[in-house]
Amino acid sequence: MPDPKKLRPRFVILISGQGSNMQAIVQACQSGDCAAEVAAVIASRAETAGLAWAASQGIHTVGLAHTAYPNRETFDTALAQTIDQFSPDYVLLAGFMRVLTPGFVARFAGRLINIHPSLLPSFPGLHTHAQALATGVQSHGCTVHFVTPVLDHGPIIAQGVVAVHHHDTPESLASRVLGMEHLIYPQVACWLAQGRVHLTSDQRVLVDGVTTRLFTPGQHL
Ligand code: GRF
Repeated sequence: MPDPKKLRPRFVILISGQGSNMQAIVQACQSGDCAAEVAAVIASRAETAGLAWAASQGIHTVGLAHTAYPNRETFDTALAQTIDQFSPDYVLLAGFMRVLTPGFVARFAGRLINIHPSLLPSFPGLHTHAQALATGVQSHGCTVHFVTPVLDHGPIIAQGVVAVHHHDTPESLASRVLGMEHLIYPQVACWLAQGRVHLTSDQRVLVDGVTTRLFTPGQHL
């Protein structure tokens, strides 16, 4: 009987800081909710809290300081070579704060996933919660999407929505969105591990057996 763990899809997760989304995905894999193996956690800095936590879980970690490279292209080449050592089925960006070059994105096309803290295509880029408050939207949230060369605009896999409260600050809104991120990213990771996520030739996403890919507060995934 083959060892089921050996047959599990492999994830490499890229982080830059606390790695709370990475932790949520690792915990989903450890609990069995997500039938995948986290082969490695790689950070764009030599040391981060997320790397320390992943190492404490027995996961292979690599701190690749982007400041040690003369430009974006050489960093991305080193990053890609490091990733390839772990033969991942998917590369999950989780709080990864580097803009990736088109060459890197092309190398991992179709298996490069990101989570962005807004309901794309609204509010690409940084400071999304301040943008949401400044524009007066009443709904906000997060998006898990395939990465393309165009920043924060790839085919959407799932979204989680939260209401904007009258008294919200960027910090209070960010906290509620982050809680939703920790729900939808592990769920998407589970779908990826099951081979249920498909990207059509016209860049549309299909997920087998799933009628809605919008998650709301209180919805049990
Ligand atoms: C999250 O809001 C994520 O959407 C953004 O970075 C923030 C921190 O993520 N990309 P994490 O706690 O490092 O996973």
